[in-house]
Amino acid sequence: MKAPKIVVPPPGPKAQEIIKKSKKYLATTTRDIPLVIVKMENDLIEDIDGNIYIDFAAGIAVANVGHRNKAVVEAIKTQLEKYIHSAPHDFYDDLQYKVAEKLVEITPGNFDKKVFFCNSGTESVEAAIKFAKIATGRSRFIAFIGAFHGRTHGSLSLTASKPVHQRGFFPTMPGVEHVPYAYCYRCPFKLSPDDCDIWCAKYIDEVLFQTYVPPDEVAAIVVEPIQGEGGYIVPKDGFIQELRKIADKYDILLIDDEVQAGFGRSGKMFAIEHFNTVPDIITTAKSIAAGVPLGATIVKAELDFKVSGSHSSTFGGNALALAAALANIEFIIREKLPERAAKLGERALKRLKEAMEEIEIIGDVRGKGLMIGVEIVKSKDTKEPYPEARNKITEIALKKGLILLPAGRTAIRVAPPLTVTEEHLETGLDILIESIREAWKESKK
Ligand SMILES: Cc1ncc(COP(=O)(O)O)c(C=O)c1O
Repeated sequence: MKAPKIVVPPPGPKAQEIIKKSKKYLATTTRDIPLVIVKMENDLIEDIDGNIYIDFAAGIAVANVGHRNKAVVEAIKTQLEKYIHSAPHDFYDDLQYKVAEKLVEITPGNFDKKVFFCNSGTESVEAAIKFAKIATGRSRFIAFIGAFHGRTHGSLSLTASKPVHQRGFFPTMPGVEHVPYAYCYRCPFKLSPDDCDIWCAKYIDEVLFQTYVPPDEVAAIVVEPIQGEGGYIVPKDGFIQELRKIADKYDILLIDDEVQAGFGRSGKMFAIEHFNTVPDIITTAKSIAAGVPLGATIVKAELDFKVSGSHSSTFGGNALALAAALANIEFIIREKLPERAAKLGERALKRLKEAMEEIEIIGDVRGKGLMIGVEIVKSKDTKEPYPEARNKITEIALKKGLILLPAGRTAIRVAPPLTVTEEHLETGLDILIESIREAWKESKK
């Protein structure tokens, strides 16, 4: 496929028809982009009207190995000839232990681990909450402002990136305290990263634990090593390490949510490795099985539920998903995708930082690997969020043949498949920068 190729401005007539029908029958969720997909291949997406786009969203950081990766497709086909569903939490097969063994091997921590399979990110966080509660006998949690951990009631209680996620659903799980994340571009304490002494982390021990949250009642600190939905925010180095220290001081578990950042996206297999920190529990989903629904919670072996029936799932660890996961993880390792993401990410960061020098509405560019956030503001001085321009940029880019997703209040994410061709990466960046420039010009009218 030659890309991008726009034959009719999206949404074209066929797309409009499908969108109209979909709106009649589908519950409202987050379908804000008028794109009707008919085919996907590696880093490209074709819509129903024949337009071909470069994909900088990767199915929300799912297709790290590219859409319809050949090795994954073959593995699914082979599994289809054997069985689809085995009731994996009630019976054994050779796929479950093989994928679990792989996950144990590639996750940080040189100790025995156990794996719980489920179907999604939110479920992997729900399982982490349960592991932490049962293992510690405690039921309070610390989470971060800007965090996204899912939308079911347990994980939603940890989520804090947009009011719309919470509005109307109170109360969720009690006992969660939210504290500031190391979002240095907008430090909630108005400190400078040069001499803040990582106060946002120390605040947990020096304020929270000294005033109203008894640390001996806290089961876990739950953190994204790079915030995803919150705006692709990379914390200052030392923040995650400080959380580990505080957790150790009070026998609190550290839960590392790698649902979005994991499996090579950040330039390391797991993003927490950038901070030389080993968590007690890791939650994963999204890119674990290249698009087939799967989640996995990986825990220190001593945290295991131990009792049959404490937690389980009908579909978690479905055979098609596990076959896909095995091929997917092997591909990521074989093709050294974390290294590739790191290399291409550096190039993309450099180009976007150069564009930031010139374009007033780019307030910040940050990221690791191919997990890059571009924050759009009204002016560099005021840093006032500019979501209207951000939305305009994604709209303009779509019309030019580039798929982008927003993140947080006012950022755009750059998250192509890690197999994106160099040519498509460069062309995509050209379109992104040009779209920002156009939105900037319009904003001055
Ligand atoms: C860090 C993180 N955790 C959990 C979730 C929830 O995943 P899911 O949508 O598969 O439930 C997401 C989804 O974006 C996420 O980014």
